[in-house]
Amino acid sequence: MDTVLILDFGSQYTKLIAKAVRELGVYAEIVPWDISAEEIRRLAPSGLILSGGPASVYAPDAPRVDRRIYELQIPILGICYGMQLMAHDLGGQVLRGEKREYGPSALQILQTDTLFDGLNPTEEVWMSHGDEIRTLPKDFVCLAKTPNVAHAAMKSCNGLFYGIQFHPEVAHTPKGPEILKNFLLNVCKIRPHWSPADQAQQLIEQLQRGLADARHVLIGVSGGVDSSTAAVLVHRAIGERLIPVFIDTGLLRLGEAERTQTVFEKLGLHLRVIDASSRFFAALRGVTDPEEKRRRIGAEFIRVFYEEAQKLSRAVGGIDVLVQGTIYSDVIESAGARGADKIKSHHNVGGLPEDVPFRIIEPLRNFFKDEVRQIGLRLGIPEEIIWEQPFPGPGLAVRILGEVTPERAKLLQRVDAIVREELGRAGLARAVWQYFAVLLPIRSVAVLGDGRAYGQVVAVRAVESRDGMTADWFHLPYEVLESISSRITNEVEGVTRVVYDITSKPPATIEWE
Ligand code: XMP
Repeated sequence: MDTVLILDFGSQYTKLIAKAVRELGVYAEIVPWDISAEEIRRLAPSGLILSGGPASVYAPDAPRVDRRIYELQIPILGICYGMQLMAHDLGGQVLRGEKREYGPSALQILQTDTLFDGLNPTEEVWMSHGDEIRTLPKDFVCLAKTPNVAHAAMKSCNGLFYGIQFHPEVAHTPKGPEILKNFLLNVCKIRPHWSPADQAQQLIEQLQRGLADARHVLIGVSGGVDSSTAAVLVHRAIGERLIPVFIDTGLLRLGEAERTQTVFEKLGLHLRVIDASSRFFAALRGVTDPEEKRRRIGAEFIRVFYEEAQKLSRAVGGIDVLVQGTIYSDVIESAGARGADKIKSHHNVGGLPEDVPFRIIEPLRNFFKDEVRQIGLRLGIPEEIIWEQPFPGPGLAVRILGEVTPERAKLLQRVDAIVREELGRAGLARAVWQYFAVLLPIRSVAVLGDGRAYGQVVAVRAVESRDGMTADWFHLPYEVLESISSRITNEVEGVTRVVYDITSKPPATIEWE
């Protein structure tokens, strides 16, 4: 299979390069910048991409490649720092920039080249760099410039090495995908054929081989797309030897456990639902601080999961393997540029005791969220799970401001269910990134019959977002707000006021706690 390796020099955009390449139908993997030439030879990629990064090539601790990679006869594309490093390594000169250039710029193509097939003579590109190249290495030609940068693109005369100062992987470079495609198809001579959905069968076969000796395999399922996809994959590989477990914390959305169980049943998996709600409510008694709530829920989750795992292991005659739904973004976010193999702790199994008697496997470790969705769809997982909105690990506990009690959790579940139903009815469920209700720790005056009363106040939140890092409040139609409000006050006793949250992130966060 044609593979591209991306050597990561720590740019915030490295992950986007991998995504962009994969979206073009070519499998790309991010590797640490200090990977050796032997290792690259062993992996036999069809192309290499050197990512951007914050360093200057002249800094004493600047990350550098194993220079023998230039002798492997593999095409290399250097992006930003990657281009400067290539120029520096091959005898060019890099100029220390006086000031950073950050933002849009006009690329002017000086020489037609296969890298720029399909581009206009001038194209908009996105710049983010301090240093720039003063003189090209011998046997390189300059392909393009911008008003600020004399060498915005370069190419070696043998046609193997390319460098571009701008970032083709960001949306602000509209022809970026075109340039990457040209590099992959025209320079690396790759025929794109990779698709994540096509990987499903291969993954199943790999799991069959890898788990041949396992007596039983355990997975903690949350009802979300990652763990569900991982569970179905492993089930297809080893059938009933997989034991999927769902822990009901009492802090889930209304009907979540039953809904997940029904879906799994349809997929042929027997989900074991463990009602541990009383333990979670006990752990949260008297706690109002959000971080303390998170800490206690995380700790209790691990205790419950581990105890259940031990019980199940005794009951079935041995569990050897634990499956985690870790995905690529979890892996690379926690690994950092140097590629240390540290895996982000997940709220469900992250803090298991050191000596767990299980081998841990992560079948989705190499896939991005969108790719996991495609694999899930290929496996027949229903759309309601595939497109489920994000739900925080600590669940409703961070939407119940103040103390979490079973009564307050039940009340919020009912309110939240109305919000979800009404958005679904309005056809907005997919358009809105996240939508939910929050139970406030105050009461407000209400008119009940002939008298005054103090009722509960709930806030409704709906936001649009691309990645959860920033968000805008969603302009829900008045009619939808109207029906949400009247249904909540009519159907949920005790709630007498509904407010709508009209703040964006920043400054507010998506969750209230
Ligand atoms: P904030 O509130 O920080 O949320 O704007 C960003 C995204 O993260 C989710 N979120 C959490 N997810 N554990 C999680 O697994 C948490 O403690 C947590 N807090 C927030 C939130 O729902 C949103 O999607």
